[in-house]
Amino acid sequence: MENIQKKYIIAIDGPCATGKSCIAKLLAKKLSIIYVDTGAMYRVCAYYFITNNIKINEENAKKYMKEIDIKLNYTDGKIIIHLNNQDVTDDIRTPEISMGASDISKIPYVRERLVDMQRKMGEDISVIMDGRDIGSVVFPNADIKVYLDGDIKTRTLRRKKDLEKMGCTLSLEEIEKDMKKRDSQDMNRDHSPLIKVEDAILIDTTYMSVEEVVEHIMVIIKDKGIIKD
Ligand code: DC
Repeated sequence: MENIQKKYIIAIDGPCATGKSCIAKLLAKKLSIIYVDTGAMYRVCAYYFITNNIKINEENAKKYMKEIDIKLNYTDGKIIIHLNNQDVTDDIRTPEISMGASDISKIPYVRERLVDMQRKMGEDISVIMDGRDIGSVVFPNADIKVYLDGDIKTRTLRRKKDLEKMGCTLSLEEIEKDMKKRDSQDMNRDHSPLIKVEDAILIDTTYMSVEEVVEHIMVIIKDKGIIKD
């Protein structure tokens, strides 16, 4: 595989449990570019607030955001996430932190700081970034924009499998309720809500395997003339 375009940005957006991070990670590996999980950045902020018993609001965001140092490191194909040098990779994946991340992501001050960091990450190098506002706000000129979606029941089952691996035994009903609440918050907030921008390619992942979605996006990347076989 040969890169034709030197530097490019791939934006992947969509609601919870559409496979965004898994798909973006595999694509990054295939393309030998950096993957940035922006959801993890909101999760780290939520983790800091929740574990330090700080109420999530604009005033506290202005006071405490400067105390949060986020690092995403790549080791043996795995992304290790640090908050002030503490490895929080697994701790930020709980249902409580998921909802906290959605809550904190409504605060404009938090978004401005994280979007700034995300833009810097893609300033000089090719990146694939996933989140809720990548194609709309972070990189509106991204070379490829993909919007992943999927039926809520299928997405709930996927999330249940992920949570079970972490030893969490929430029922399907509870998971579906949480995901619907989070999607609704993310889609209806005032600042940078999750939307499918006009130039994003919609992929319904309901009946597709991760590999099929990856292959589909690879075809889009080749069609765009970014890489060739
Ligand atoms: O992708 P995720 O489930 O790890 O994201 C957690 C929350 O972070 C999500 O519910 C909304 C917020 N988020 C956001 O507002 N903007 C992004 N670019 C990424 C995540």
